[in-house]
Amino acid sequence: MSSSSKHLRSVVKGVGSYLPQRCVTNAELEKTVDTSDEWIVQRTGIRQRYFAAEGETTSMLATHAARAALAAAGVGPEDIDLVILATATPDYTFPASATQVQAALGITRGVAFDLQAVCSGFVFALATADKFLTSGSHKRALVIGAETFSRILDWSDRTTCVLFGDGAGALVLEAQESSGALSDRGVLTTHLRSDGRHREKLYVDGGPSSTQTIGHLRMAGRDVFKHAVGMVTDVMTDAFAATGYSAQDLTWFVPHQANERIIDASADKLGIRPDQIIKTVQLHGNTSAASIPLALSVGSADGRIKPGDLVMIEAMGGGFTWGSALIRW
Ligand code: ACO
Repeated sequence: MSSSSKHLRSVVKGVGSYLPQRCVTNAELEKTVDTSDEWIVQRTGIRQRYFAAEGETTSMLATHAARAALAAAGVGPEDIDLVILATATPDYTFPASATQVQAALGITRGVAFDLQAVCSGFVFALATADKFLTSGSHKRALVIGAETFSRILDWSDRTTCVLFGDGAGALVLEAQESSGALSDRGVLTTHLRSDGRHREKLYVDGGPSSTQTIGHLRMAGRDVFKHAVGMVTDVMTDAFAATGYSAQDLTWFVPHQANERIIDASADKLGIRPDQIIKTVQLHGNTSAASIPLALSVGSADGRIKPGDLVMIEAMGGGFTWGSALIRW
């Protein structure tokens, strides 16, 4: 690691999130779907999720979350020169929803673009922003995960429609000079992977170039489960190898919130203790790219995640894609 004063690190300045008003409990779903609160809680840990109102789009949720993150960071829209929005449920096929967020915030400089890696989207967006910031090309980034998965669910498929929810979360990252020491704040390491051979296990059966429709989410849940634990623990092991840290060193483990059993099995495999885990899947369901920044926002707001903490994030999603990032908060 360089000891030069030119070493840049992407430091978390603020975190924010937004949930739509409508909260839907498992009991409410029981009225329209052949399911039960008991089945959903036992298999997934999910107790409720939020659904966007009619006309409330991904970019609107993202804009709310971004405003909250800017306020937490104590910076204004004019200070942002990079907006990366991770989403698999954009407002429109184009333009990128990130540009709509940029416009809604009144940002007229820099660059905004969407990034598509489904549930791994936030980790991919954070890693991408980190490359921009540590190269010195950009100074301050909004990294957002926002989704309206309720719009792509097939309500006649009980194996998928009970699992997902809508929401948004955002981080403000700032390029700051660092000595290069692992104790200095900022993103320490990121590890991204993908393998397109797994497409059939988790995909949406529509799109502009194939069916000219939006399509619905399709998932072979058991197959996804089978791969998830191995894949996310692999990339966390990569993060440990890159830094010399181990599971015991983590202050917080903030995984993608898809399913409590995947979270617990992944933690257990690496020796991460239950008291190191931040879980919000029971409150939000699986919000895809929004789930990690939503969990980071909850953990920061309630005082658990503090500056200087060592925070591991990881996710796995459609593609398959998977990745991890280790952050000195
Ligand atoms: N309510 C009640 N019963 C149900 C429901 C439901 N919502 N869904 C399925 N069942 C039934 C099935 O019909 C089946 O009944 P049968 O035995 O009579 O055929 C039984 O429950 C068991 O079904 P399985 O699919 O085998 O259930 P499993 O224990 O595998 O749990 C689940 C399903 C929760 C989807 C699990 O496989 C899982 O969590 N997989 C990972 C999915 C995931 O987290 N994906 C997200 C990661 S990637 C991303 O975030 C996009």
